[in-house]
Amino acid sequence: LAQAKLRVPGQVPKCPLRPFSQVQGAASFGPVWLASFGRVRTVYVAAPTLVEQLLRQEGPRPERCSFSPWAEHRRRRQRACGLLTAEGEEWQRLRSLLAPLLLRPQAAAGYAATLDNVVRDLVRRLRRQRGRGTGPPALVRDVAGEFYKFGLESIAAVLLGSRLGCLEAEVPPDTETFIRAVGSVFVSTLLTMAMPNWLHRLVPGPWVRLCRDWDQMFAFAQQHVERREAEVAMRNRGKPEKEMESGVHLTYFLFREQLTAQSILGNVTELLLAGVDTVSNTLSWTLYELSRHPEVQTALYSEITAALGPGSCVHPPASALSQLPLLKAVVKEVLRLYPVVPGNSRVPDKDIHVGDYIIPQNTLVTLCHYATSRDPAQFPEPNSFRPARWLGEGPAPHPFASLPFGFGKRSCMGRRLAELELQMALAQILTHFEVQPEPGAAPIRPMTRTVLVPERSINLQFVDR
Ligand code: HEM
Repeated sequence: LAQAKLRVPGQVPKCPLRPFSQVQGAASFGPVWLASFGRVRTVYVAAPTLVEQLLRQEGPRPERCSFSPWAEHRRRRQRACGLLTAEGEEWQRLRSLLAPLLLRPQAAAGYAATLDNVVRDLVRRLRRQRGRGTGPPALVRDVAGEFYKFGLESIAAVLLGSRLGCLEAEVPPDTETFIRAVGSVFVSTLLTMAMPNWLHRLVPGPWVRLCRDWDQMFAFAQQHVERREAEVAMRNRGKPEKEMESGVHLTYFLFREQLTAQSILGNVTELLLAGVDTVSNTLSWTLYELSRHPEVQTALYSEITAALGPGSCVHPPASALSQLPLLKAVVKEVLRLYPVVPGNSRVPDKDIHVGDYIIPQNTLVTLCHYATSRDPAQFPEPNSFRPARWLGEGPAPHPFASLPFGFGKRSCMGRRLAELELQMALAQILTHFEVQPEPGAAPIRPMTRTVLVPERSINLQFVDR
């Protein structure tokens, strides 16, 4: 096997997913290097051309990570994997079942009416949350906390066709537990991945926490799926088959596809998790940047109200929002600056060429999306929020420089739904409020807990229009 020698850093980097260590690594070692983080040994790839080269060599069933503690949890608890953690043929089967239900634009658009109700509740909740505690009367503290509730309420409405009530004045305690478990599981994931197996016996904390969090998420999903199925069964009692309520929720379709109850539960649990942090952090960063760039916010407000026509509190059809160029550019720019998944991974099933190197089969490769999307060669003034760069201003970046939803057969299953949620929520929030920063607040930087999150709470003012 001809393999050019990879540069190995003298100092072990703190964590393979840390966004700033990606940027520093690329600056010190060039676009490809090899490093270890605890027991994780991985090749980093941090140039768009090389990311493209690697992803284009993917086989029919790309693998993301060969030693996932999440898959290990499923194995030990005898739970079925969902799409996030499944591999091989099982993954392929789930993917081909779920893609027509979620990934096709028309399929996602079918959930617009459901999401519209959730967005209305979000606007009401933001109004209620203003002025709690000290500070200006329109200040909402920790907007990400509010948007986590929105993320969970939205994905649950799509999956179950019923509402959890996360955006009501009294938040159901089990939804708070679920949201806490999502945050906590990402932290313990990094720790368990880094620790060698023998260390788990001496320091059991991270593994115990990871299992506790997943157990809580599974219990939550199970309770809500069962409750929903019982409601539908009750309403259908005594009806002839053709009059039975089918429901438009995703779980119903999965039952119809004759997935086992265990597999449905695995998928519902993992989709609930995937829907919480992703959309909410992106929404938080978008409003944070718009509050600091009032000229962009004004232009976006004009674009939205022009599309909605007079009487701007009307809720627009999903298709109208997906045509708004500045709205799309703002979301793209936010995901470039703050990719929810700052470092993705692949485990090639054969030896592959990447630049001057041959990466042997079964090597964990980390794709440094954060570094490529802040590369000044691709994006002039890379740390500035400039949505116009996606509207033809300046040279076009390499198409693999910013890949917030991943690529190819294993790319994000919730992409269309996430885009719809973001567009609908932004259109309504900006129609009702002018979003302003907290007076005197210092800039907020991103940090990683596997997914990229704000390093501290984002507080924003929602001033009535
Ligand atoms: C702004 C929002 C979101 C972003 C940026 C995002 C990003 C990503 C990324 C980068 C991946 C890995 C792709 C790859 O390996 O190539 C992924 C996978 C996935 N996402 Fe998302 N995601 C978002 C929202 C959602 C939502 C709302 C859902 C739920 C419906 C979801 C469900 C999934 C699933 C199930 C996978 C695994 C797909 C597979 O392994 O086949 N995502 N996402």
